[in-house]
Amino acid sequence: MKGILLAGGSGTRLYPITIPISKQIIPVYDKPMIYYPLSTLLASGIRDILVITTSQDLKLFKLLLRDGSQWGCDISYATQAEPKGIAEAFIIAEDFIGDDNVSLILGDNIFYFPSLRNMISPSFNLVGASIFAYHVSNPSRYGVVEFTDNNEILSIEEKPKNPKSNYAIPGFYFFDNNVISYAKNLAPSSRGELEITDIIMNYHHAGTLKVVKMDKGTAWLDTGTTNSLMEASQFVHVLEKRQGLKVGCVEEQAYLMNYINKQQLRELASQFSNGYGRYLNSLLDD
Ligand code: G1P
Repeated sequence: MKGILLAGGSGTRLYPITIPISKQIIPVYDKPMIYYPLSTLLASGIRDILVITTSQDLKLFKLLLRDGSQWGCDISYATQAEPKGIAEAFIIAEDFIGDDNVSLILGDNIFYFPSLRNMISPSFNLVGASIFAYHVSNPSRYGVVEFTDNNEILSIEEKPKNPKSNYAIPGFYFFDNNVISYAKNLAPSSRGELEITDIIMNYHHAGTLKVVKMDKGTAWLDTGTTNSLMEASQFVHVLEKRQGLKVGCVEEQAYLMNYINKQQLRELASQFSNGYGRYLNSLLDD
């Protein structure tokens, strides 16, 4: 399973913050936003990762994430020239994906899963697609999936004005290799983008789409507006302060997954002479 981390877009809803800098680099409490989806990928067992960003922001992402070897994974980079939609990522990533299955996570989606591995592992050898559904109060901002009483999929719509359900589709998807040809055959939507929901519809029509409802205790946070960004920071702050444990800490995740050993974690910790470094050091004693 390969992983794509999509960190493109112009972040106009967060202007002026995102005029000079990519949205996915700005902080969510104590770490850059992209750390959260990256640690979700690592926790899923995905360590061969392509970061897709804009040519303007590429340099900053390379400075922050390097080649991933410091975290025992492999990070490569590609650029998306214009914000032409999430589904274009599969065309850009064609060579990277090769003959494998692929997961895509959006660089501005933050998840807090108590039992991530259990939810993810069935998706690894998948034939078709596996996506999530998450109950939200404001579904019109998202892709929305409607179910029958028997949990069969009835409809899938992108940002509907009158949503038929409260189940939004989070930006974390698993696809088999057909995703490349589906993406290549898509027509742009009315907003001029290759829509991820159209890819999902292809799998639905082929009868190979699986939708997993996320457990009630899971948090999926949005960071698209200044308010939701603030709330995401507050969520992370409250959890971290209460538990003394970090959320979305890439170094910790790499260590927990045995991608790096104690010595490597010690070296990473020594690069930060602050609370973050002390936290990493504390993990060595656990
Ligand atoms: C995109 C997708 C949408 C999905 C959402 C998750 O929306 O198009 O289907 O529910 O990400 O964050 P956008 O990035 O345009 O808000």
